[in-house]
Amino acid sequence: MPLVPMKELLDRAEQGKYAVGAFNCNNMEIVQAIITAATKENSPVIVQASQGAIKYAGIDYIVALTRLAAEAAPVPVALHLDHGTSFEQVMLCIAKGFTSVMIDGSKLPLEENIKLTNRVLDVARATGVTVEAELGKIGGTEDDITVSEKEAQYTDPEEAAYFVEKTGADALAIAIGTAHGQYKGEPKLDLERLEKIRSLTNVPIVLHGSSGVPDEAIREAVKRGVRKVNIDTNVREAFMAEVKRVLTANPNEIDPRKTLGPAREAMTEIVREKIRLFRG
Ligand code: G3H
Ligand code: 13P
Ligand code: ZN
Repeated sequence: MPLVPMKELLDRAEQGKYAVGAFNCNNMEIVQAIITAATKENSPVIVQASQGAIKYAGIDYIVALTRLAAEAAPVPVALHLDHGTSFEQVMLCIAKGFTSVMIDGSKLPLEENIKLTNRVLDVARATGVTVEAELGKIGGTEDDITVSEKEAQYTDPEEAAYFVEKTGADALAIAIGTAHGQYKGEPKLDLERLEKIRSLTNVPIVLHGSSGVPDEAIREAVKRGVRKVNIDTNVREAFMAEVKRVLTANPNEIDPRKTLGPAREAMTEIVREKIRLFRG
């Protein structure tokens, strides 16, 4: 079916009290794996592309690949810009056919984040595109900061209430202890903070940096109002582990299909597992 606004998927998730999986794509095999997995699980799904993915593959390829796969699929699919950092980037994605955008103003002072998010919302509302905003700093696992410095960057519940009141964003990405990339130890989620944010905002919450978060913590987060869960690293790991496995067994292999085919299957499996987990 045609690509749908992400809000439609989030509204349904809200009713069903589950989270929709949002998986990052960079090439054809990843897009195919995501949509095949969603089809096999008979589940809605979000395909998302970062600015880096758009730079790598080209925006027209990202849109064309996802649109083609979505149109042939029996489940609803949204195409979302992940961590858009400028108004111009977001406008380009809307013009090219993305049905959802993230405007990540989390590095800006609060009032500037609100201003930028509202500028995006004005255009998005007129075009039926969904908007995810971010408050608090999610960061990476490589960031060399102490636990207390990290906690200082977590989303403040009162600030979240103010932010949502001033913007009316469709979804809110928050910092509660997750980070992008491979974790060194086990991440510990501040579930009380999540509960507080959710009770004060009543907006669908987005969990970033979800690869490597223990299953039980994901289930608890979904129970407390997370409605979109972002996964990139786990899919990358599955892709590259399979490529390595094939090439180790057959070092002289020269047919890309012999490595990318199994890699696509491995990615499909991990996406299926995550979709099942996000059902709560
Ligand atoms: O949030 C980060 C995503 O994992 C995208 O990563 O910027 O390397 O494409 P990337
Ligand atoms: P991970 O790569 O840690 O799964 O994070 C993905 C993400 O949050 C994309 O925005
Ligand atoms: Zn992210």
